[in-house]
Amino acid sequence: MRKKIVAGNWKMNKTQAEALALASEVVNMVNDEVRGNVGVVLCVPALYLPILQKFTNLAPNVALGAQNCHNLAAGAFTGEISAPMLASMDVPYVLVGHSERRQYFHETNAQLAQKIDMALANGIIPIFCCGESLQQRQANDHFDFVTNQITESTFHLSPQDFGKIVFAYEPIWAIGTGLTASSAQAQEMHAVLRQHIAAKYGEDTADNATILYGGSCNEKNAAELFACPDVDGGLIGGASLKSREFANIIKAMVA
Ligand code: 13P
Repeated sequence: MRKKIVAGNWKMNKTQAEALALASEVVNMVNDEVRGNVGVVLCVPALYLPILQKFTNLAPNVALGAQNCHNLAAGAFTGEISAPMLASMDVPYVLVGHSERRQYFHETNAQLAQKIDMALANGIIPIFCCGESLQQRQANDHFDFVTNQITESTFHLSPQDFGKIVFAYEPIWAIGTGLTASSAQAQEMHAVLRQHIAAKYGEDTADNATILYGGSCNEKNAAELFACPDVDGGLIGGASLKSREFANIIKAMVA
């Protein structure tokens, strides 16, 4: 069964007090207002994962995610966090391959394949991010570029492991810019990704894959994006930092 998920990516935002307030508000709103089958994932700064568990433990539909993990299990990598560490803190999700990690930390498809392996080996669900630049879209290279990201980072997996991954299509030109992909552009890419998955793993696996859209998704455009048949939810940046707006986006998924 395809899961519906709305995930918030807080990125490098919020002090401890702000993080506690935001998580508590989101959990209360979800518990009070959201009826229906949607999973909510809060991808918060790693430092706050343990202190936010007391809130997410109170909400069966809300889970925590890290924003990154290292591709190796342990070692001399100052400042890094490993998948076994996240697993030992009962963190169920991790973002892998966000475009900001690819751009600023030079993460490659091959390295991301290792991160996915490491997450899965530790029982953590990777939310694998992919997406093209404006230049690639203008050169009409976007389908090849994004399908290749998926091939190089995930097509080595067994069908069983592949079925555990969540995908997030985030066109780079739409992230933090206010320029959302139109619902037609999102649907078109999601359908292409699903066909690409079907060609490797078969129709059933493709049909069951959860593919989120991310990039300037907000409470005004969420309903239209989520109504697309191949869009199974969202990965929300800026709008996930405001509890009321984020809750409204979650409600748009189940409406
Ligand atoms: P914005 O929603 O701020 O555009 O960010 C999207 C994103 O990068 C989520 O991972």
